[in-house]
Amino acid sequence: TARVFSGIQPTGIPHLGNYLGAIESWVSLQEEYSSVLYSIVDLHSITVPQNPAELQKNIMDMAASLLACGIDPNRSILFQQSQLDEEHKMSMILAANLAMFQCQHCYTWQMKSGSLKNEGSVGLFTYPVLQSADILLYKSTHVPVGEDQVQHLELAQDTARIFNRNYGDCFPIPKAILSCTKKVKSLRDPTAKMSKSDPQIIATVNLTDSPDEIVLKFRKAVTDFTSEVTYDPEGRPGVSNMVSIHAAVTGMSVEEVVSQSMGLDTAHYKLAVAEAVIQKLAPVRAEIERLRTDQGYLKDVLKRGTEKAKELATPVYQEIRRLVGFS
Ligand code: TYM
Repeated sequence: TARVFSGIQPTGIPHLGNYLGAIESWVSLQEEYSSVLYSIVDLHSITVPQNPAELQKNIMDMAASLLACGIDPNRSILFQQSQLDEEHKMSMILAANLAMFQCQHCYTWQMKSGSLKNEGSVGLFTYPVLQSADILLYKSTHVPVGEDQVQHLELAQDTARIFNRNYGDCFPIPKAILSCTKKVKSLRDPTAKMSKSDPQIIATVNLTDSPDEIVLKFRKAVTDFTSEVTYDPEGRPGVSNMVSIHAAVTGMSVEEVVSQSMGLDTAHYKLAVAEAVIQKLAPVRAEIERLRTDQGYLKDVLKRGTEKAKELATPVYQEIRRLVGFS
C-alpha cells in the first residue's frame, strides 16, 4: 500500500525554499494518499550543536508553521521524531548493513564536516542512515522532498535493497516526489540553495517575514546586468530564480510569468515578485502567529501524532526484529 513520508528539521520558522520545495506538496499529497506521515526530525538537528531551549522552541514553531501551511492533523500524522524508540533501534540495524563509504560521499557530510572532512560528529556521519530509518520504519513508498534531499533518498533506496537482499523481502523501494520548484536559490547567491543557515539574513525569506522585510530582501536580490525578464536557469540563475518563485506563488506557468512581465526591467520585476510573495504568505503568517500562542494545542497534536506513528511503526519493527534474529 502507498504511504507518504517526509521530514523537516526543526529550524523554527521554515523558509520559502522549504515551503515551495516541500511543504506545499506535502499539503496537496494529503488529498491524494490515505496514509501520510510528516516528521519533525529533532534527532537530525542535534547532529550539529544546538541550544536546548532554542531547539524546544523551534520544534513548536515548526509544528505551528506546518499546521498553518495546511497540514491537517486529521489527515496526516504530524509527529516529533525523537519520541519513537523504534527509530533509534532501526537506525542501528540499518547502520550495521551499510559500508562507511556509502555515508562518506553524502552531501551533508561533505559540506558540514570541516575542511579535513573528519571534524563533524559521528551523528552527522550517520545522518543519512537515520533518514533511511525514518522512511523505512513505516515502509514508506513516496517521499516528497526538495532536490537537495535526492541523494539521501538514493541512499535510503540502496539501504532498502541491501536489507532485502540480506534478510529477505521486507521494504518497498521508496520514490522521491519533486515539486516544480525543487530548488529555490539564495537571494544573495543564485548558484546556492536558499538555506536557514545562510549567514546573510537577506538571502532567506522566512514565512513570518513582514511585507517590509520581504520587499527589502527582493529589492536586494542578486540578478545580473541584463534588465529584461527571461527564464534561463543556466545563463541567468538570479532572474530565473525570481521567475520560478513568481510562478510558484501565483500558480502560473513559467511561460505565463515571463510573457506577463515583458517590458518590466528586473528592478521593477523584483518588486512585483515580492508583492506576489507577500500576498501568498499573508494568511500563512497570520495563522502561524495565532497557533504559536496556543502551545497546548500544538503539544496535543504532536502527542496524538506520536501515538499514531507508533501504531504504524510497531508491527514493522517487530517484523525487522524477527528477520534479524532478535525475537
Ligand atoms: P530540511 O529540514 O533541510 O528541509 C526540509 C525540506 O525542504 C526542502 N528544501 C528545499 N527545497 C527547495 N529549495 C530549497 N532551497 C530548499 N531547502 C530545503 C528539503 O529538500 C526538504 O524536503 N534531511 C532532511 C530531513 C529529513 C527527511 C527524512 C526528509 C529527515 N528524515 C526522511 C525526507 C524523508 C532535511 O534536513 O531537510
